[in-house]
Parts: sequence; C-alpha cells; structure tokens
Amino acid sequence: MHDIARLTERINEMSRGFQQSATLYTAVEADVFAHFAHGPKTAAEIAKALGWDPRGTRIFLDALVALEILEKSSEHYANSVSAEMCLVPGSPGYQGNLIKHQRSGYLNWLHMDEALRTGRAVTQDEDEQTPEDRRNFKPDELRNFILGMSDIARMSAQHILDAVDLSPYRRLLDVGGGPGTYGIAFLDRHAQMSATLFDRPEVVEIAREQVCAAGLTERFAYIPGDFMLDPMGGGYDLVLLSNIIHSYGPENNRKLVKKCFDALEPGGLLVLKDFIVEEDRSGPPFSLLFALHMLIHTGEGDTYTYNEVASWTDAAGFGPGRAVDITPQSRLWLAEKPGAAT
Ligand SMILES: C[S@@+](CC[C@H](N)C(=O)[O-])C[C@H]1O[C@@H](n2cnc3c(N)ncnc32)[C@H](O)[C@@H]1O
Repeated sequence: MHDIARLTERINEMSRGFQQSATLYTAVEADVFAHFAHGPKTAAEIAKALGWDPRGTRIFLDALVALEILEKSSEHYANSVSAEMCLVPGSPGYQGNLIKHQRSGYLNWLHMDEALRTGRAVTQDEDEQTPEDRRNFKPDELRNFILGMSDIARMSAQHILDAVDLSPYRRLLDVGGGPGTYGIAFLDRHAQMSATLFDRPEVVEIAREQVCAAGLTERFAYIPGDFMLDPMGGGYDLVLLSNIIHSYGPENNRKLVKKCFDALEPGGLLVLKDFIVEEDRSGPPFSLLFALHMLIHTGEGDTYTYNEVASWTDAAGFGPGRAVDITPQSRLWLAEKPGAAT
C-alpha cells in the first residue's frame, strides 16, 4: 500500500521549494545577517535599519527562524550558527555571492519549457547562441557569478589538496580559472608552485584582485582570452580544468582536453573536476539538476560520466585515468601525459 499522505507531502514540498529560495535570496540581497553580526536585534530595529515595513519585517524574520537561519528569544532575533558561518560577509563558509548568482538564474528556470522546446539557452537570442553561458551579465552579475565560484572553490580546493599529492608539480595552468581560488589555495600549500590563469579578460581582472589580496601577485601570470580559440602556451606540469566541461558539448570538450594535453610536459598531470554522473545517469541528484541548469543557460552544456571523460583523455593521448570522488557530486578525473623522464 502506498502512503498517499506521505507522497502528497513530498510533492507539495517540492512545489513550495521556491518559497525557501526566495526568502533566502531576499535576506542575502538585503544583507540581513550582517545586521546581527554584533548581537541580537528586534524586528523593529531591523525594520528601521533597512527602511522596511515593521509588520513585513516581523513576518520575514519569523520565516527565517522557521528555516533555522535565525534564532529567536523573546522579541530578539540572532544569527544561527549556519548564518554566522555561511551568510555573514567575510565568514569562513560565505555563500552570499553564489546565492546572488543563483537568484539571477532562478528567473530563467521559470522558462525551462522554452529550452525544452528549442534545445537552446533561454538566456540567448536565436542569433547569438554560444556554447557556454554568455549571458549579458551586468558587471555586478558577472562579479556574483565569478565570486560565487570562489564560495564553492574555497572548500573544494582543500578537498583536492587533501586527496591528491601536488607536491611534485611546479607550473600550474588553471584553464577557465575564474577568480583564481584553486590556484591561490594550491600555491599557498606548495611553495614551489607558480600559476598561469586563463580566462576571459573581464574575469582575469577579478582574479587579479583576489590574487593580490592573497599576496601571491609575484607567482601568478594570466592569459586573457578564449581558451577554445587562443593558444594556452606550454611547459606546464599541472593543468586544472575545474567546472568547465559542463558548459560545453562533447566535441568541444574533446578538443579542449587535447589542448590541455599539448600544453603539458611529459609526465604532467591533468586534474579535471566536474559534477560527474553515474554511468546510467541515475544520480547524483545534484548533478542531474545541474545538467538542467546547463540546458537553460548554455547552448550545449551537460553533465558527463567518467567513461565519457575517459574517452576524451584517451583520445588525446593521456595514460589511463583515475577517478577520485571528493564529495558525492564533485568528482575528479586524474590523467597523466606519458613519457616522463625516469
Ligand atoms: C563555472 S566557472 C569555473 C571557475 C573555476 N574553474 C572553478 O572551478 O571555480 C567557468 C569559468 O570558465 C571561463 N570560461 C568559459 N569558457 C571560456 C572560454 N572559452 N575562454 C576563457 N574562459 C572561459 C568562465 O569565464 C568562468 O570563469
């Protein structure tokens, strides 16, 4: 017998999921959590500080309590541990840039049916379709996107450093390196390493700021351009391709992996990271939903299996690859270019 009440509740939970997202987006946009950084406040105090309606503010703050992002004692609200750790600007697990980026994608998700009908990104006109996500980001949206990558990468970079011994490597090429978070973490851990970051010119400018703030300017170089079209240079012994292949179709990925192969010295290592799906595409759920995000936002993006990735590294000439799952959804494929001097 099916438990209809439980099934109904699950379906309705899914249907109302947007309420939680919208509440979080509004709180982050208004920087509500920063207002509690120095201690509890009443709804009236928050309403005054934000110029909001007192009744609306009380209703809103109570909802954040229900979501366990705020706590309430008598009339006073305070940040919960998750707000303190992840939602106050400057906190160790800050996710605010990523949440702002998700918010701009959320409206596009409502037009998913268009992408399903046409097979095209809903963010691009018919005559301006490009393979990857080239939304006409306004400058602050581009910043949210790129720094949002950093919100994820700060933790993933430590996972990679714990899972893979990078101590033999000296010259890193970070292809589509975004804000430079991986390079910064790798160079912080390995004093012998220097990095070259390849990305679009407007993104390289954001990376430069992050690298400068990390005090690593002397050990970083940049290639501003299009990695599908422009030369990558050579002589690297480590190439990172993190969260790039999901923006492109199989043919472009095959070409890109070959370009990475050519840029590496014999014995060099390719570290490819992405939301790799099971061979039968049965999961993980995050990665299957991420493929939808790519359908909505890119001309040819998708999520791929290890076998698909292996077919590209094999075709390029890499030795047999090795899979490392750093979280259930965030997975690495490591492949070495043969021919190292012994
Ligand atoms: C999803 S972000 C990943 C950033 C970083 N690698 C990470 O894992 O956090 C993709 C990055 O690739 C860059 N990118 C995508 N296609 C590109 C291209 N054809 N040429 C240069 N950069 C590109 C984007 O600008 C963006 O910074």
